[in-house]
Amino acid sequence: MIPNIAAFKTLIKDRVGLHFFNGMEGLLNAALHQRMSEWGKESSEEYYEKLCVSTIEFDKLLSLLTINETYFFREPEVLDIVCDLLVPRILGQRSGPVRILSAGCSSGEEAYSLAIKLHQKYREAFAQCVEIHGCDIDTKILDKARMANYSSYSFRGVDSLLQQTYFTCNGNQFQLHDVIRNKVQFHRSNIVKEQLQPKFDIILLRNVSIYFDVETRRLLHFNLLTMLEYDGALFFGNAETLANNFGILKLKQEHGHFYFCQPKTSRVPALAASVSPRMITPVIPAKTPSRVSSSQQCDNWIKSALLCVADKRFAEAEDWISQVLTIDIHHQEALVIKGAIALEKCEFEQTALSAKQVLEQDEWSAEAKMLLGLAMMWQQHTQQAIAWFKQVVYQQPGYWPAHYYLAEMYRQSELYRPAQRTYRITLQLLNAETNNTMGNACALRLPLSFPTNSFRFLCEHQLAQFTSQDGQ
Ligand SMILES: C[S@@+](CC[C@H](N)C(=O)[O-])C[C@H]1O[C@@H](n2cnc3c(N)ncnc32)[C@H](O)[C@@H]1O
Repeated sequence: MIPNIAAFKTLIKDRVGLHFFNGMEGLLNAALHQRMSEWGKESSEEYYEKLCVSTIEFDKLLSLLTINETYFFREPEVLDIVCDLLVPRILGQRSGPVRILSAGCSSGEEAYSLAIKLHQKYREAFAQCVEIHGCDIDTKILDKARMANYSSYSFRGVDSLLQQTYFTCNGNQFQLHDVIRNKVQFHRSNIVKEQLQPKFDIILLRNVSIYFDVETRRLLHFNLLTMLEYDGALFFGNAETLANNFGILKLKQEHGHFYFCQPKTSRVPALAASVSPRMITPVIPAKTPSRVSSSQQCDNWIKSALLCVADKRFAEAEDWISQVLTIDIHHQEALVIKGAIALEKCEFEQTALSAKQVLEQDEWSAEAKMLLGLAMMWQQHTQQAIAWFKQVVYQQPGYWPAHYYLAEMYRQSELYRPAQRTYRITLQLLNAETNNTMGNACALRLPLSFPTNSFRFLCEHQLAQFTSQDGQ
């Protein structure tokens, strides 16, 4: 290990935000060794001094450190919402062009995917309707983006007809046609420190913030605040959104998708001392002395109810819960437990009713959304189930049961690629939970048991089925 690696870590984080968590130190170490030997120096102190003064050398090192994984039409639901909902809406309100930025664009697939979709939609008017930009910190990868020449690896999940329409095959490379290529402009920009202007209507910043720590992500939000139009929308990757909710930009939800927009007041909120990715906790009213004892009583009844549910003594559990609800008709935990018991008894309408009562008080209750997803699933309302599970996944990316049931719903809807992807995520989360590398980040307060071994088996089984079908 490079002896002064901590100094390199600080320099890189200060300049571009990349944070080398413990597990990623190996990458930094290997990159430093590579650059030092290419430069012909063995002293890491000398190399550090060089790095401080030479932007060329810094960029060379950076190219070895950035993770440029990307592909066409990645997480396509967001591209759909941008192209089918937001761009038409903006164009309905004012004349074009709508300005779109793919920030942390890597080799350009995201920006070009948007351009392709918008070209399909607007045809000749495409040039006037939209302006598409990509930016990245890595100069080498930007050269690749500008070339727009890709291997088949970039086309995971792309319809072959679409590929034939917009690319010319050259050996085992695919060259993007100029009508799309010329539409995207690429810029070298450090998204943490620089503000591309004029403002953008839509910013996609997906799969970038995962490499930043909390402090950097918060700074980034202040930057984004100045780059986003008043009515604009900022999207993070599916699993990143909630970890980016600092109250600087306002979180909004449309058609089951979350994005950030400008807050109503233009006043920039003060930096909060600490951040919690968990959403709004409902405000609990101050308790009067007499309420304290009844609330303690409620807590005891809830405990008794939970013990009964664990033993599958549902009638008894219901008695405890109805006692709680007699005292406090809005008691959220009691309503959640009531919904879960109804689910166990296959009374799905009751489950949905209880869950909706919870959501009326706390629109961010992931427990209520999970119950609704399960209730819809058992009633064969697959699309509604998908919408609810997706919301849970957005809010609680580590909660594997939501991923698992989402995968099941995709499979039932014959959406095989998303299904495969989601089973894989479930397995990863299950493994992380088994290896205890996630703490209790994935906990929901739901009295339902999901035995990990059975679910692991089911995921592996489904993935094996897909593999054997692909091989046929
Ligand atoms: C994993 S890729 C994401 C590509 C694409 N957005 C997607 O979702 O498929 C992350 C990219 O973020 C870029 N990046 C990292 N730090 C950055 C910064 N401070 N400013 C701009 N780009 C940055 C990296 O160079 C890398 O190309």
